[in-house]
Amino acid sequence: MTITEGRRLGRSGVLVSPLTLGAMNFGEGANTGEADSIEIIHAALDAGITVIDTADAYTQGASEVVVGKALRGRRDDVLVATKFHNQIGANPSHQGNSRRWIVRAVEDSLRRLQTDHIDLYQLDLPTFSLGLWQKFGTGYAYDTQREIILRAFDLGITHFDLANRYGPPFRAAEKLFGRLLKSDLGRYREELVISSKAGGFLSDSPYLQGGSRKSLLSSLDHSLRDLGVDYVDIFYHHRPDLTVTLEETTSALADAVRHGKALYIGISNYAADRAHQATQLLSAQGVPLLVHQHRYSIFDRWVETEGLLSFAQEDGVGLVVFSPLAQGLLTDKYLDGEIPQNARAAASTFLTPDAITEDYIARARALNEIAAERGQSLAQLALQWVLRQPQVSTALIGASSAWQLDHNLAALQFPPLTDEELGQIDEYGVHGTGVRV
Ligand SMILES: NC(=O)c1ccc[n+]([C@@H]2O[C@H](COP(=O)([O-])OP(=O)(O)OC[C@H]3O[C@@H](n4cnc5c(N)ncnc54)[C@H](OP(=O)(O)O)[C@@H]3O)[C@@H](O)[C@H]2O)c1
Repeated sequence: MTITEGRRLGRSGVLVSPLTLGAMNFGEGANTGEADSIEIIHAALDAGITVIDTADAYTQGASEVVVGKALRGRRDDVLVATKFHNQIGANPSHQGNSRRWIVRAVEDSLRRLQTDHIDLYQLDLPTFSLGLWQKFGTGYAYDTQREIILRAFDLGITHFDLANRYGPPFRAAEKLFGRLLKSDLGRYREELVISSKAGGFLSDSPYLQGGSRKSLLSSLDHSLRDLGVDYVDIFYHHRPDLTVTLEETTSALADAVRHGKALYIGISNYAADRAHQATQLLSAQGVPLLVHQHRYSIFDRWVETEGLLSFAQEDGVGLVVFSPLAQGLLTDKYLDGEIPQNARAAASTFLTPDAITEDYIARARALNEIAAERGQSLAQLALQWVLRQPQVSTALIGASSAWQLDHNLAALQFPPLTDEELGQIDEYGVHGTGVRV
């Protein structure tokens, strides 16, 4: 194997070997001790591997140290990827995604790796993220909302997805999360990835919707005030606005990063070609597009059919996929054709009773049987199904109880779906079922 047989890394021009060597268990005190680790790394390089993947938290830094030693004299032949976020050492403030910690973490990694540059530096998103779109506003029991959010954090969900519109009423979810940051979560700010969005409809005023500089940057300031934070981790343009040039929208997003009010940029609901243009415009301004947020589930396969998987692959952008349970249609709650009193289909303008058609019930029951054969619930099957795509960085779920979180996150305990099962799911996973598209 030689580098000329390599593949392009994301949207970059860099060629890499098809295989990467992971160094998670390498280093002094790890399963693979220092001498063996160096021997393995040298054997990998000799065999043509050009990417070594490590992290500051792998064996608490020992992995980076041994990678640095093994690469002495060979650094220029290799692309080194490392990561930050997890706790290093005993001090709980030595972790997270804050600017202060990122700068400290990268300096420590450079020192351990004995290099003056890292080729690939990554932000980890948890497998599941929690969105506060529905039932996180006034009119719902505060104690339940608090319980769900704290339970999510205890279960390892570090990414909370918000928007200026979430409530009801608009802005209520960000105010609620701000309140929780003050009372409970603020001390973990550096461990949280908080996202906000602007650009969705808030009022008839042209400045309270759309993709103009005025609308986006003033909304971000408002969200920061409601959340009571200095910065959000990801700031999204919520939906494309064809009345504003993409140059204006992307320059406002890039300025949000330059002004220190957002660490990363995302877009949402963009078609693949416009998403690609946004990536290029942002990149020209030195701000990479981190993520694209789009709906994706067994019943909504637009991501597959309209080129978003290929966009994500080719442009190196992560997909944050929302409504993976089709707002609850891919659970067992509507299987008997009844709508439970407090279910979303009974109480939301976004999922209405007319979604519970005979077609829907037949497909959901068939999918439920496939899940039962695997010993799991339909919800767990549906979540595993979206996560099978390597382009998906995180599945963005909602929940109206802590029980739902416990139940749904157990999806990770089941074996991957086989090709045969995926084929069976395809039969009933018909795009548009029950979903308003
Ligand atoms: N960018 C965008 O334009 C956009 C648009 C929509 C959503 N989003 C984001 O995506 C997030 C998630 O969306 P979503 O809430 O539609 O996701 P979802 O995970 O498809 O649906 C979650 C809902 O399904 C029901 N549910 C969950 N687990 C269940 C279980 N085990 N058994 C029975 N029912 C269960 C609950 O509703 P009930 O119990 O109330 O029935 C829950 O609130 C949002 O909060 C938001 O952050 C983004």
